[in-house]
Amino acid sequence: MRGVIERLARDGTAVARSDGTLHSIFPVAASVAEGEALREWVLREGATQTIEIGLGYAISALHVCEGLLGSAGPTARHVAIDPYQATRFSNCGLQFLDEAGVAGLVEHRAEESQIALPRLLGEDRSFHLAFVDGNHRFDGVFLDLVFLGRLVRAGGIVFVDDYQLPAVARAASFFVTNLGWTLEEVSPADDFHQWAVLRTSAVPDTRPFDHYVDF
Ligand SMILES: C[S@@+](CC[C@H](N)C(=O)[O-])C[C@H]1O[C@@H](n2cnc3c(N)ncnc32)[C@H](O)[C@@H]1O
Repeated sequence: MRGVIERLARDGTAVARSDGTLHSIFPVAASVAEGEALREWVLREGATQTIEIGLGYAISALHVCEGLLGSAGPTARHVAIDPYQATRFSNCGLQFLDEAGVAGLVEHRAEESQIALPRLLGEDRSFHLAFVDGNHRFDGVFLDLVFLGRLVRAGGIVFVDDYQLPAVARAASFFVTNLGWTLEEVSPADDFHQWAVLRTSAVPDTRPFDHYVDF
């Protein structure tokens, strides 16, 4: 696991086993610093059930799995949603998970999150921690957070990438101002990535039907 992460971070490129194409991993993938922050949140929360939107090159997923291996038992599972893993990433993310020996820990859902998340709700699934790095448009992130608010346990963690994008920060703001989520951490921004860590509300949603706080 460590060896694979270090190789990808050092080389910054990789050849896809599926079709021989050469891929530049960064800055599409989460930075190693972000991955390490994510891994620490998995460990700190004692998470055993995790979910990610946007598997991509699996830098985030490798760090989540590293955290799961550190804290969780045999029931640990990471759900990774990515509809474009085969078409855009030549299955590199799945390849790296396989090379790291954690493919068995990860359930890949090859669907858009707006389809996969309600399906997971219908399957009565629940998670301790979520990582959001899929469709970065306002409506995409907003929808992801709406569904994650129901899929992640009360008082659980929603780790959001690309918080430097106004659409992402604005979407997150709704959940803080209207739903009682708290902002636990905001990283320094660089040109490509900034992350924010949100904690979902620990109490049930009892807003009156006309409740609204501008955000
Ligand atoms: C920035 S990349 C993710 C990088 C990844 N976290 C990593 O560390 O390598 C964004 C990912 O979101 C996926 N994506 C785009 N739209 C999506 C959607 N509607 N639902 C789920 N994933 C989506 C893309 O296929 C891509 O894998």
